[in-house]
Amino acid sequence: MTILITGGTRGIGYALAERCLAAGHHVVITGTSTDGVSRAEAALGTSVDDTTRVIGVVCDVRDAGESTRAVETAVQRFGGLDVLVNNAGVGIGAPVADLSDEEWRRILETNLTGTFHCCRAAIPHLRARGGGWIVNVSSLSSTRPFAGGAAYCASKAGLNAFTEALMEEVRADGIRVTLVLPGSVATGFSGRPAGQDSDWRLHAEDVAQAITDLLAHPPRSLPSRLEIRPAQPKRG
Ligand SMILES: NC(=O)c1ccc[n+]([C@@H]2O[C@H](COP(=O)([O-])OP(=O)(O)OC[C@H]3O[C@@H](n4cnc5c(N)ncnc54)[C@H](OP(=O)(O)O)[C@@H]3O)[C@@H](O)[C@H]2O)c1
Repeated sequence: MTILITGGTRGIGYALAERCLAAGHHVVITGTSTDGVSRAEAALGTSVDDTTRVIGVVCDVRDAGESTRAVETAVQRFGGLDVLVNNAGVGIGAPVADLSDEEWRRILETNLTGTFHCCRAAIPHLRARGGGWIVNVSSLSSTRPFAGGAAYCASKAGLNAFTEALMEEVRADGIRVTLVLPGSVATGFSGRPAGQDSDWRLHAEDVAQAITDLLAHPPRSLPSRLEIRPAQPKRG
């Protein structure tokens, strides 16, 4: 399969790219930083001793044209697209009274509008293949909003509604759409040091495994919503 993972330069997206490559798939990763994309592309190619099955594309999902280009690159390089994982995301914690217009826009345009851009570009190619899968990475905080997370929680709650509507829209075409809602993951997300509290938080690999397990479901089956929590959170 050919799998496009937005935000695949580190964290959950990178762990997912590693697993998909190990399973023999073609993988396209994206990120906004040229250095980050080049480094991740090289490391992923080395990890499977095959640089031909992975490509990195510099793409800011907030930009419709760049999102379309990432999808077209996957299709041209590998002959089609089977799976789109909308994983790119940002989180900026700030009380509403202190949140700037730029921060609000960055969160909403990355987490919600970016997913729209990539889905719109990918759907015709998935239809051309006779079906496929779109996996949208949301967050449990979309259903359990917290103080200081208004913009982030709103972006992910919007993503949930977008995803459920899209699922109904494209189901009859054989395109499966799944919402994945992780709890706390020990990545460098939102400026946290990567690996912090990794004794109790989920690891990026756990979410990656859940997504690759999902993709192994038989064609008649659509797990449409997947919530993943740390099994034993810190007390208190
Ligand atoms: N970590 C958690 O606790 C947690 C919990 C629930 C849900 N999630 C969700 O899981 C997803 C991945 O998070 P993570 O923890 O793996 O975060 P991460 O380690 O910070 O990785 C985020 C990835 O997204 C990319 N990205 C950011 N803005 C982008 C943009 N505008 N266009 C394209 N790529 C962009 C980053 O690349 P560049 O820096 O190069 O742009 C990076 O590859 C996010 O959607 C997040 O909301 C995370």
